[in-house]
Amino acid sequence: AKKINIALLGLGTVGTGVYKVLKMQEEEIPRKVGAELAVKKILVRDLKKAALKVDDPSVLTNDWKEILDDESIEIVVEVMGGMEPARTYMMEALAAGKNVVTANKDLMAESGRELFDMAEQSQKDLLFEAAVAGGIPIISPLKQSLAGNHLTEIIGIVNGTTNFILTKMTSEGMEFNEALSLATELGYAEADPTADVEGLDAGRKMAIMASIAFNSRVTFRDVYTEGITRITATDIRYAKEMGCDIKLLGVARNTQEGIEVRVHPMLIPSTHPLASVNDSFNAVFVHGDAVDDAMFYGRGAGEMPTASAVVGDIFEIARNIRFGCNGRISCTCYKELPIKKMEE
Ligand code: NAP
Ligand code: HSE
Repeated sequence: AKKINIALLGLGTVGTGVYKVLKMQEEEIPRKVGAELAVKKILVRDLKKAALKVDDPSVLTNDWKEILDDESIEIVVEVMGGMEPARTYMMEALAAGKNVVTANKDLMAESGRELFDMAEQSQKDLLFEAAVAGGIPIISPLKQSLAGNHLTEIIGIVNGTTNFILTKMTSEGMEFNEALSLATELGYAEADPTADVEGLDAGRKMAIMASIAFNSRVTFRDVYTEGITRITATDIRYAKEMGCDIKLLGVARNTQEGIEVRVHPMLIPSTHPLASVNDSFNAVFVHGDAVDDAMFYGRGAGEMPTASAVVGDIFEIARNIRFGCNGRISCTCYKELPIKKMEE
């Protein structure tokens, strides 16, 4: 069978999960994708620390050029996070004719357009299923299975850390800081959890989904965001007394007047389906003119659920390589729609 070489950039929570899932799938991969997949290089900062996580430490490097210049590497998997050098590495990888998978919502929400342009120019794939809602398949359905709809609304719980914190504060009376530390320990929180608790991470995910669903261009700057740092135990108790729960919700609407995207805490009746989305689980409701309502539910963060989404993208690209049809999905045809700004 053909062998396809992969490079991982980063071996933290998600990178380690991807490495493990690829190992777990080793036997099934040739049947599923028609090729063998080999992790040829892993870019890390600390070689010694990373050596404890892999079978063969010779795959480790801290030199990006070693990966970029290796023509046998066809898929680069960016799981380092942050804006730079992730953006430069992804642009260089695409320009060099490599396919890219990323879990990086910060980057996709900020620089998605230039990355898509580069992918289209190079006729390579750029996939990012893990960037929104962890293990839940939502990018691919929005791009493909639901593309026959005029989509008008997306509502969801799209941040695992804040949902975990609110669940712990509600059901166990846990303090905010204790719940946040636990979410970090479990690998749910971002390297800087400010992005989670201030609603920025959820805002980036809503911008990405709105851009795809409404076939337009919504950046993070277009999203109104408010996090959960001001929610107190007293707020949660009052909500309970009213038969409600507090959830951090993302809402994106495509209206006659323009696109509106926001993230903020909301009171929802405890009988509402979103009230039973707890811990690190996420849920996304989508409304379209043909499908009516569709709902997606699953683990929104963490090592293995996120790796599940990343590895799904790797398999899709590997199949495309095998059939010589990379870069076939254009992401650059869209229409600029007016954005409705929300004031605080
Ligand atoms: P993480 O645990 O902090 O892992 C990132 C890894 O990348 C770290 O090991 C870090 O090395 C390494 N790294 C950073 N910059 C590097 C550089 N310049 N060169 C080499 N290695 C570098 O983060 P994570 O949770 O795996 O998240 C990775 C990405 O996935 C982020 O974009 C995040 O938003 C996204 N994501 C995460 C989750 C989740 O549940 N965790 C879910 C969906 C998407 P050091 O250890 O030396 O810092
Ligand atoms: N920090 C993110 C979250 C990871 O808690 O949802 C998944 O994107």
